[in-house]
Amino acid sequence: MNVYDSQRMADTLAREGYVETQEPADADLVILNTCHIREKAAEKVYSELGRLRKAKQEAGSDTMIAVAGCVAQAEGAEIMRRAPVVDLVVGPQSYHRLPELLAEAKTGKRMVDTDFPVDDKFDHLPAPSRAATRSRGPAAFVTVQEGCDKFCTFCVVPYTRGAEMSRPVAKIVDEATRLVDQGVREITLIGQNVNAFHGTGEDGATWGLARLLERLARIEGLARLRYTTSHPRDMDDALIAAHRDLPQLMPYLHLPVQSGSDRILAAMNRKHGREDFFAIVAKMRAARPDLALSSDFIVGFPGETDADFADTMDLVHQARFASAYSFKYSPRPGTPAADHAAQVPEELKAERLALLQKELEASKAAFDAACRGRTFDILLEKPGRQPGQLIGRSPYLQSVVVNNPPAPIGDIITVTITDVGPNSLAGRCDARAASDIAPSRGSAAQPAPLEA
Ligand code: 5AD
Ligand code: SF4
Repeated sequence: MNVYDSQRMADTLAREGYVETQEPADADLVILNTCHIREKAAEKVYSELGRLRKAKQEAGSDTMIAVAGCVAQAEGAEIMRRAPVVDLVVGPQSYHRLPELLAEAKTGKRMVDTDFPVDDKFDHLPAPSRAATRSRGPAAFVTVQEGCDKFCTFCVVPYTRGAEMSRPVAKIVDEATRLVDQGVREITLIGQNVNAFHGTGEDGATWGLARLLERLARIEGLARLRYTTSHPRDMDDALIAAHRDLPQLMPYLHLPVQSGSDRILAAMNRKHGREDFFAIVAKMRAARPDLALSSDFIVGFPGETDADFADTMDLVHQARFASAYSFKYSPRPGTPAADHAAQVPEELKAERLALLQKELEASKAAFDAACRGRTFDILLEKPGRQPGQLIGRSPYLQSVVVNNPPAPIGDIITVTITDVGPNSLAGRCDARAASDIAPSRGSAAQPAPLEA
């Protein structure tokens, strides 16, 4: 989400004559786009501001400094107090106002805009230029939904990003079509709770995510679709069927489960149990046998016992994730769980995280190892380290290095996986993908089913 938001801010400022620099020292304006989800991410902002202040003093420059994103939203006044170097604080709903806010800030007034304005920022954020889209590569993000009404007891998102809001289908289709016209081949639909999408459809009715995906799959030249990040409660039957029916929808699903313990899931207010999760996974795998899963986990949620943690380890063992993210519980101010008396000691969280990550790494390694010898379509995304090498993405988001592929960046080629490393795979290219040669460009060939 922050990558996409940063791009939209860059697109807005491009109209004002700003171009991106590689180094803060070369910049007239530095924007820190920040994350508030865990304390560590939020604290980084202040250390980064300290570094920027020092660099600015040493160079005697008048570089302007702005803080955007969810830390800006949650701690606007605090940032202004703790970091006098900051000229401007702008929350995620106000990015379209950046030019006017900057103009005010340039007069020496320190500006804070963390309102949830009534006008829709998406109506005001300009589209990227062809050159900007090209420089960002053939895989792009499109926000379709923002905010969250779920109120998991550990999570700041409903407070920082606000209530759930879905963009109208026509606007999403326009944005996607334009990106495809500019050379994009893969689009990931993003939202804090993307599968809760309920936007106004082209016929005026409310459409769910399945219907939106179906519509986007009809855009000529759009070869791949993904969406992230989802909540198990919103994996409805229509969405599961879309995974069966839409060849463009990649067989890879990021479905955060957070814990394998029913007791902890209830305390987290997730509104589903471990068996619900297994039932969804079974339905998904029946609909799309080559589906791979990833997930998010939190260890050391208040009150988590050894038995609860053992349930999480067991879920991980059974679900066979292709990848996962895992975190120590971080108490966030203003969220219900932060005030819970039974906080888990830091050492125990660290111990559990290490055990969980070992299990998740083994699961990922097993999945990757099972890819050796298999044939995938990969989308060539960027140059590799060695001359002649390109790096592409498998349907499962794995990086695949290919030597001297017979096609340029932006094409989809078929490769056989020859080597499996800890961070990437290597493949040999046999041919351009059939789907890319045949003019029915919208339909990427399905990869061979995976047993893993
Ligand atoms: N502490 C630790 N992890 C958290 N996440 C969200 N809030 C917290 C928190 N307070 C994790 C969840 C979520 C991911 C984006 O971040 O696993 O899915
Ligand atoms: Fe946060 Fe996701 Fe829960 Fe919403 S559904 S409160 S974004 S963890």
